Amino acid sequence: MLKALVLGGATGLLGQALVSVLRQSGAWQVETLGRKDFAIFEQEALATYLQQQKPDVIFNTIAYTQVDDAEDHAEQALNVNASFPAMLSRLLCKTSCFLVHYSTDFVFGRDSQTLPLTEEDQPNPESIYGKTKLAGEEHIFRILPQQAAILRTAWLFGPGKKNFISTILQHARQKKHLTIVADQCGCPTYTLDLARWSAIVATKRAHGLFHAVNAGQASWFQFAAKAIEIANIDCLVEPITSDQWPQKAKRPKYSVLSTEKLQKLLGNTCQIRPWEQALTEYLTK
Ligand SMILES: NC(=O)c1ccc[n+]([C@@H]2O[C@H](COP(=O)([O-])OP(=O)(O)OC[C@H]3O[C@@H](n4cnc5c(N)ncnc54)[C@H](OP(=O)(O)O)[C@@H]3O)[C@@H](O)[C@H]2O)c1
Repeated sequence: MLKALVLGGATGLLGQALVSVLRQSGAWQVETLGRKDFAIFEQEALATYLQQQKPDVIFNTIAYTQVDDAEDHAEQALNVNASFPAMLSRLLCKTSCFLVHYSTDFVFGRDSQTLPLTEEDQPNPESIYGKTKLAGEEHIFRILPQQAAILRTAWLFGPGKKNFISTILQHARQKKHLTIVADQCGCPTYTLDLARWSAIVATKRAHGLFHAVNAGQASWFQFAAKAIEIANIDCLVEPITSDQWPQKAKRPKYSVLSTEKLQKLLGNTCQIRPWEQALTEYLTK
């Protein structure tokens, strides 16, 4: 059995999905680590823990994910999203432990892109969140070039924690009418699917950058409308523009990610399914 350490596995949206998928597979012995355990950002404490535990793979889901708040708390976001992955990488570079880390479609900017973005496309983040996540990517690949995979994902939904879909459905049950932004286009992604792909990447120790999202694309409006339809809630959803819903952080208008590279690695036995199919499973199982 391989030994996995899931950072953020007890409380995070993706972390909980990873714990559940890895445990269910029967192939992994799984531990979680988070801020409730000890001061994990203190290098010596973390080093001691890792020397005792000796995980084969660390899945790092710890991140400062409040995109708008990050605009006012840049130092905190940088510490969690960039300095911590750098410190972790330095601790791992003299071990054989493989790191699976997560990044975001928000490393891309507001360029007039209309084709799915590949791992070769130049990032151009405009938000503090995106900039700090990109800095995290750069530290990891500089320190652990052959020993880490970074999965850029997007628009996560899944069980265990509040997310865009659970929030929308809560509002839809309370109101008869919702307006949702329709001029930002991205890839909704199911945490349990991402966790399954992550397990394969880790087992193969496939280092490098991978775009990891469900198939297809949507606007926030289409994503929300589909969830309300599947949940069979009587609520009128109408599209609005980003200008009508001002947010502190600038988000990409188009951040559809190409998963060709990941799909090649996963092979025919694990097809990346459309987000609508995954959303139906999330809302009906
Ligand atoms: N959610 C999305 O739509 C989305 C989209 C693109 C990329 N991603 C990326 O996917 C990964 C997982 O995201 P997620 O949505 O699962 O995140 P999440 O639910 O917000 O979980 C983040 C985890 O980080 C921990 N954390 C945050 N600040 C910490 C600190 N200062 N010290 C210790 N732990 C701290 C949290 O612990 P507490 O519970 O104790 O706060 C939590 O376990 C992240 O790398 C994120 O950037 C997410």
